[in-house]
Amino acid sequence: MNRVFIKTYGCQMNERDSEAVAAMLRARGYRIVADEADCDILLLNTCSVRDAAEQKAIGKAGYLQKRKKKNPDFILGILGCMAQNRGAELLEKLPDLDLIIGTQKFHQVPGYLDNLRAARAAGVPVGETIVDIAEEAGSQNTIRDHVLMQDADAGAEAPPQVSAFVSIQQGCNMDCAFCIVPKTRGDERSRPMDEIVAECRALAERGVREITLLGQIVTSYGRRDYVHTDGVSPFVQLLDRVHALGGIERIRFTSPHPRGFKDDLVEAYGRLPKLCGYVHLPMQSGSNRILRAMNRPYTRERYREIVDALRAVRPDMYFSTDIIVGFPGETEEDFAQTRELFEAVNYDMAYIFKYSVRTGTPAATMADQVSEAVKESRNQALLDVLERNSVRRNATLLGHVEEVLVDGPDKTGRRFTGRTRGNRVAVFEANSRLIGQLVPLKIDRATPSTLYGELVLIGVESPESRVQSRTLSASVPRL
Ligand code: 5AD
Repeated sequence: MNRVFIKTYGCQMNERDSEAVAAMLRARGYRIVADEADCDILLLNTCSVRDAAEQKAIGKAGYLQKRKKKNPDFILGILGCMAQNRGAELLEKLPDLDLIIGTQKFHQVPGYLDNLRAARAAGVPVGETIVDIAEEAGSQNTIRDHVLMQDADAGAEAPPQVSAFVSIQQGCNMDCAFCIVPKTRGDERSRPMDEIVAECRALAERGVREITLLGQIVTSYGRRDYVHTDGVSPFVQLLDRVHALGGIERIRFTSPHPRGFKDDLVEAYGRLPKLCGYVHLPMQSGSNRILRAMNRPYTRERYREIVDALRAVRPDMYFSTDIIVGFPGETEEDFAQTRELFEAVNYDMAYIFKYSVRTGTPAATMADQVSEAVKESRNQALLDVLERNSVRRNATLLGHVEEVLVDGPDKTGRRFTGRTRGNRVAVFEANSRLIGQLVPLKIDRATPSTLYGELVLIGVESPESRVQSRTLSASVPRL
């Protein structure tokens, strides 16, 4: 009766929260199972950023309620952003839920499950749904270090963990007019820098080579808790400290805000070779009029300046972005501006979203909502540009050697996958001993989304090669 399946919707922060809940449950003697059909307890960790994400989870939970009818001991819970956003109101559509647990209460999940199971075991009739979506001071610190817990299910043969997410900050105070996140994740709260560094050090000791620092607005990290030193923001101070850790070879972060890209962060890309040359820089719109309506505090000109400054420091920088098409009032002219900037930046990757009304946000009640058909055509126009960019970028990699961090077997189990520093997925023949290693891969074929190649024994030709060659020589593959 202790087998748990967790299904995660949405962003990397949600995935990280699910991992943390899983680790806490394992530590309490629960088993995390890989197959939904085999579980006694099913938890949906949800996303609210667009209506479609909420509808998907509601549909799934509705379907799962049938399983409860057949088996009254089956436990069904909704966690995370949609729980926070909708709370007990979810019971109107989903009356049979056992748990509704918000984003500041993930660490309470094991306790609530213990109670539910004890009541079931004692034959107490199924009671009221547990709804806990209150704020909790210090909750940004309550689910740390999950990867350090012994993975009871994994066993000794499990491959070592190569990449880890480390939460540095929760919440956001920016009030973008379209965004539900300030409601679902609350006020900005940062974890103490020493704790983050200690977690990264412990991960490195366990063999983790790549760290992704996570938060809703990571570039604002510690702005209320730490001072700038010599013009260096707390976020860049944190990057410096993680960079100094032996064993960590790659550092990434998400999500930043363009306003966080001051000189200190741009310069960090020149100073810190472990900082991967891939920047996710959410543009949202290329029209100054729409940016103002969105309450985004930058202009298209400033955005372009940031991109140019980063390319001046790292000419080979990869860029990705988030764009919303069809924000209320977006005209053809506004969209033309977005498209122009989108083409000019030449993104390697982009997440393009059709504006979705989020009740309670300022944009939800703005005039001139855009039709679905127009959103769809603007969405497609940008996707077409993106595909052309991606093909062009990948073509430049053919015949070159890229450093790849080997993740594990691909879906077929016959080959292996890894990522380049530019965050491109690569597929190649390898050996499980190479999991967790940085290896040189000669690229010989590419689709818009994937690179294919062969491992080689020579150095890397990427722009970061000089700094990396030392690392690589230590991990030359022996097949
Ligand atoms: N509609 C569509 N996209 C949205 N995003 C946030 N809110 C909305 C919304 N209401 C997008 C933004 C953000 C990304 C995580 O989701 O582009 O950067």
